[in-house]
Amino acid sequence: MLADFQASEIVGERASIALGITGGIAAYKAAELVRLLVGAGHTVYPIMTKWAAEFVAPLTFQTLSGQPVRMATAGFGRDGDIEHISLIRRCELLLVAPLTANTMAKMAQGLADNFLTSTYLAHRGQTMVCPAMNTAMLEHPATRRNMAQLEADGVHVVLGDSGDLACGEVGAGRMAEPAAILDQVRWVLAPKLPFLEGKRVLVSAGPTQEDVDPVRFLTNRSSGKMGVAVAAAFRDAGAEVELVHGPVQVAVPARIKTRRVRSAADMADVVLSRQPDVDIIVMAAAVADFRPRPSKEKLKKAKFDGALHLDRTQDILATLGQRKPDGQCLVGFAAETGSVLENAARKIRDKNLDFIFANDVAAAGLGFAGDRNRLIALNRHGVQHDLGTRDKAALARELVAYVVHELQHELQSN
Ligand SMILES: Cc1cc2nc3c(=O)[nH]c(=O)nc-3n(C[C@H](O)[C@H](O)[C@H](O)COP(=O)(O)O)c2cc1C
Repeated sequence: MLADFQASEIVGERASIALGITGGIAAYKAAELVRLLVGAGHTVYPIMTKWAAEFVAPLTFQTLSGQPVRMATAGFGRDGDIEHISLIRRCELLLVAPLTANTMAKMAQGLADNFLTSTYLAHRGQTMVCPAMNTAMLEHPATRRNMAQLEADGVHVVLGDSGDLACGEVGAGRMAEPAAILDQVRWVLAPKLPFLEGKRVLVSAGPTQEDVDPVRFLTNRSSGKMGVAVAAAFRDAGAEVELVHGPVQVAVPARIKTRRVRSAADMADVVLSRQPDVDIIVMAAAVADFRPRPSKEKLKKAKFDGALHLDRTQDILATLGQRKPDGQCLVGFAAETGSVLENAARKIRDKNLDFIFANDVAAAGLGFAGDRNRLIALNRHGVQHDLGTRDKAALARELVAYVVHELQHELQSN
């Protein structure tokens, strides 16, 4: 029963973050990072090294964060407190982006010769760093040793993808993109639910593509945003997550095992093969119900009569329901354009699901491509719970809280 289910806190939001900025060319990207962090509801306290201020003026960070920039060596604050200590006591996270090879070496050694390095040593909470440097510097044994030391000390190291570097080389060493850093900050800050510790969760997301001929395919309007948000929310809450996704229009979050597929048949192969190994399956993908018989040759305008014969694809959710092992939790989505709850209730019975999340994809501004959605949860006993209309990330967190609450309740009553 859901009577006592309360909307969860919006977890991990509104944290205080000390942001260290060191002297590399990627310092300009830290400005965008501050904008994103502040936009996500966090309070950002910038700390710059002297070298960082050679690249970007402190006024930029002061303006974007609305906080004074700490730069000088550690010293006394206005109230006579030791400022680097009083500042970091207020913060849940110390984030350093970009991190130079030089400051990385100091952190690895425990040197405390400026405000930032002193703050690091005075910090008892989580630290995340985003190194940015030339590939040779990154690959140097000294840097590798320092990075390994930071990881051994419990620091989260977030690396960027390979690409063009300011020095003209192409390779590893770029700072991770600000949006990717924000995603990892969310993961670090989110409280972990003990129930999900060691639980394996499989999530499917996005549309599938069904070939008509070598250059054409049938697909649908799913962007993958909802499924990807669900995968990230389970990851943030402490589960081990696997994501099987079609061609989605959003970045796939880090710290999630991903498999990209195209067709409904590929999706079925991967999902069904993974079923025996996971505890919870959330099928949020908009899998094609029909597929054409693909032509080996490109269909010619002059010869094609306009008729496409469509065959039913395998019903993955129903197959998962038939094969569901004891104790596995199977969650479906019902994207409908009418009779939403009736269709959802039928689906939960017919497909042997534990929960279904119904949404009306015909509602203006909600559903497939948008950032917001409305979900109504339904359990096997027909009890409904409205998770509300929110942005998809917040809704995904509600979904996780709801599923965990229900499963815990079931365990207790058995
Ligand atoms: C133009 C220029 C670009 C630089 N870019 C980087 C860089 O991307 N990464 C890095 O580790 N060092 C870079 N350096 C070297 C650092 O600025 C130098 O090691 C400095 O001492 C770093 O000080 P800090 O760690 O206190 O900020 C660069 C230097 C210059 C002059």
